[in-house]
Amino acid sequence: MKREHISLIVRAGHLIDPSQGLDEVGDVLIAGGKIVQAGGTVVLSPSLSDMLGKAKNLDATGLVVCPGFIDLHCHLREPGFEHKETIATGTKAAAIGGFVTVCCMANTDPPLDTPAAIAWLKGKTRQEGVVTVLPIGCITKGRKGEQLTDMAELAEAGVFAFSDDGSPVANSRLMRRAMECSRDLGLPIIDHCEDRALSRDGIINEGRISAKLGVRGIPAAAEEVMVARDLILARLTGARLHIAHVSTKGSVELIRRAREEGISVTAEATPHHLTLTEDRIAQGWPDKPFDASAKVNPPLRTRADVQSLIEGLTDGVIDAIATDHAPHSLADKTCGPELAAFGISGFETAFGCLMSLVQQGKLSLTQLISKLTSGPAKVIGRNGELGTLRAGVPANMTILAPDREWTVDSHSFASKGKNTPYDGQRFTGKVMATISNGKIVYMDDLLRTRFGSFHCSSEPISSDSE
Ligand code: DOR
Repeated sequence: MKREHISLIVRAGHLIDPSQGLDEVGDVLIAGGKIVQAGGTVVLSPSLSDMLGKAKNLDATGLVVCPGFIDLHCHLREPGFEHKETIATGTKAAAIGGFVTVCCMANTDPPLDTPAAIAWLKGKTRQEGVVTVLPIGCITKGRKGEQLTDMAELAEAGVFAFSDDGSPVANSRLMRRAMECSRDLGLPIIDHCEDRALSRDGIINEGRISAKLGVRGIPAAAEEVMVARDLILARLTGARLHIAHVSTKGSVELIRRAREEGISVTAEATPHHLTLTEDRIAQGWPDKPFDASAKVNPPLRTRADVQSLIEGLTDGVIDAIATDHAPHSLADKTCGPELAAFGISGFETAFGCLMSLVQQGKLSLTQLISKLTSGPAKVIGRNGELGTLRAGVPANMTILAPDREWTVDSHSFASKGKNTPYDGQRFTGKVMATISNGKIVYMDDLLRTRFGSFHCSSEPISSDSE
């Protein structure tokens, strides 16, 4: 007879699951790769005891246990830019950051614009991915903004959304067609909103700091003009629109109004846009005039913009926090202000830096967790199965130590991208373990001592059925 053995009991953790309003100290029971029970005490009935021989107990006293984090926006760089990141290194970094599911952007080489490219990526992530990878397909062929991809074929191949990412579709007629196709396929368009005619060769926010450093700026209007256009097209077509890495107060206000009007729009903000301002780029000025580790697109903005993004999180205008994990090589980042690549390696610092918002009282821990779990799950229409600890769903879980202090050391990142503006910074709040699809894919050394012998399994921890 096939009998499923209990695999893991997480004991006495502080369970926070915003998807079902769960906030209590209790146990989680995982078996067969699924959540069997979350909440209350797992009682060892005789029949359970019989099976418990193979179960592992993990004492989570003093720790927070929540659904596994979901990242709507990252760059895994493979194929084409393996010197920056690979699927193996990127997904390992994601696991360390508490992410169980990551959505990878299409700006690879070749780009993810054909079913063959998607099939290749899926095969590669099956072989080498530590966590689940969901691919985003291109809107236009080669991300050139000229001809639509065969979006129906890409959907069939398994993309969950469409985006040209850093090369946003400038032609509004083409974007209208893309939205009509995506609407008919029931999938969202994710747009990196940037009017290139306005951002031109800008390298940081246009304002006080660009004037001080004498470098070309990127105005807030470069983002807001495109957000406005996309919202108008979403209203016209009825498409589902997701705005990537919102960075300005004006964008938040446009999205808020569009929502009130009933336009189908969701939005994300990044940990860096929520915790840093444009001042960070000139932190060492005049001795160290430009810190390219904080050069990112869209650029870090002003205090008022950060404040507005946080308000957007708390009032629901911004649904999710997404890392925009953008790893680059040292050479890509140390070639001078103008040429340095845009981007921040974000998986491994996301939770730590976001906890500063909780410590400052700007966000509750439950709100923060919701923006990393149930919020993004809803954006991709997977809220029944992802971002939740409901019984019966695949076991995806993140264990956190909200009070644990640690120092960021980019040299110890699993990501190949050491490009972080947080290097050397002290954070309070750390990911202690990550369970992705029934496998323990990351465990912090301190927790390992509580748990006993442990190695990251390539087999589901729940495979012990007979
Ligand atoms: O900072 C960024 N880096 N913004 C983008 O839009 C692209 C990304 C990358 O691919 O490096």
